[in-house]
Formats: sequence, C-alpha cells, structure tokens
Amino acid sequence: MLEGKRINLRIIEKDDLEILHQWMNDIRFVGEFSFTRQRSMSEIQKSFSEYSPDIGSFMVEKKDGTKIGVFHHFISKLFSDLVEIGYTIIPDKQGNGYCTEAVEIIVDYLFILKDIHRIQALTFEENIASERVLEKNGFKKEGVIRNIGYSGGKIRNGVLYSIIREEWDGPRILTNVRMD
Ligand SMILES: CC(C)(COP(=O)(O)OP(=O)(O)OC[C@H]1O[C@@H](n2cnc3c(N)ncnc32)[C@H](O)[C@@H]1OP(=O)(O)O)[C@@H](O)C(=O)NCCC(=O)NCCS
Repeated sequence: MLEGKRINLRIIEKDDLEILHQWMNDIRFVGEFSFTRQRSMSEIQKSFSEYSPDIGSFMVEKKDGTKIGVFHHFISKLFSDLVEIGYTIIPDKQGNGYCTEAVEIIVDYLFILKDIHRIQALTFEENIASERVLEKNGFKKEGVIRNIGYSGGKIRNGVLYSIIREEWDGPRILTNVRMD
C-alpha cells in the first residue's frame, strides 16, 4: 500500500472488480475525455488477471477505505519503453485535490522503484482538470499531438506532459523509503 496524507493507493484486487465494472461502464465516471466503450465483467476480470511487471493498477482510497478512483501506470502505446500514467476520480469526489496527491505518490513510487528518466501523461487538449493536476506536480507540457483520438463525439488533439528525474524534488510523500 502506498500511503499518502489523505489517500492511499492500493493494488487492485479481485474484490474491487465489481465496483470497477460499475465505474467503467458509467459515462459519468469515465467523463467526457475518456474511453467509454462498455465492457463485460469477464473482460474486466481477464484484463486484471494478465500480470505484467510493467503495469500497476491501483485503487485510490480515502484513509477510511472509501474507494474514490483508479490510477494506472503502464508502458506508453505511443513510445515504447516509456512509463505513462492515467487516472480517474469519481465525480462527487473531484475538485478536492485527491488526484493531485495520487500523482505525487505515484511519481515518488516510480522514481524510487524503477531506473527510469521520465514519466509521462497524455491528456486531451480540453481536459483542463487533468492538465492542472500534472502542472501542480511539476510536469511540463511538451507539445500538442494532433487528432490523437475520438472522444465525446469528436476527434481531439492530445497534450503530452512529462516530468524528468532531474526535476523530481522527492521523495515528497513516500519519505520512509531508504534511498541508498
Ligand atoms: C482529471 C481528474 C482525475 C482530476 O481529479 P481531481 O481529484 O478532481 O483533481 P484535483 O482536485 O487534484 O485537481 C483538479 C484541478 O483542476 C482544476 N479544474 C477542474 N476543472 C477545471 C476547469 N473546468 N477549469 C479550470 N480548472 C479546473 C481544479 O480547480 C483543480 O486545480 P486547483 O487545485 O488549482 O484549483 C478528474 O477530473 C477525472 O476523473 N476526470 C475524468 C477522467 C479523466 O479525464 N481522467 C484523465 C484522463 S488523462
């Protein structure tokens, strides 16, 4: 479990799949900028049963155990071998700084865990909340990728963000981890 100040990130387990099934098929949860294809329970079970050391899927929880979102790190589909992050917070818990803290935790975790030089995130151009979360965590905007995907009824541009190891001023949250 990755313990933050107001939230924890806990690896997704079998018991979480029921709520994930509900969330992932709910257009209010995935929001206007995410993938909204409907998925069966067996599809969700299969995707979480295929272990890969390159992928981490976490439940975002408040300290009292309330499940408020999901967080993933994975290998970028655009650029091989680059670590990318993605996240969703349930609508009625958005705007409380939870995703900002989740990104802070995962940046610490990935730079401590892996010999990587950058972490990146790709978001749609109009997704201001996602851009703010990244900027608040020191990610720099690298550029616009035109016509990257179809979402919410239209073709959209993407925006690529990254933080490189030299810019990381951590560990900021996972401070009980020895770095030597
Ligand atoms: C993106 C998302 C995860 C952010 O989660 P969150 O917990 O609400 O994020 P935070 O509260 O930590 O920060 C959000 C920031 O965006 C700002 N924001 C949100 N909507 C905004 C808008 N329309 N215009 C300007 N700023 C906005 C908030 O004010 C806050 O910034 P601040 O702290 O400077 O005030 C959430 O909106 C979400 O789940 N969206 C649907 C899924 C999604 O788009 N995921 C990202 C895919 S790349």
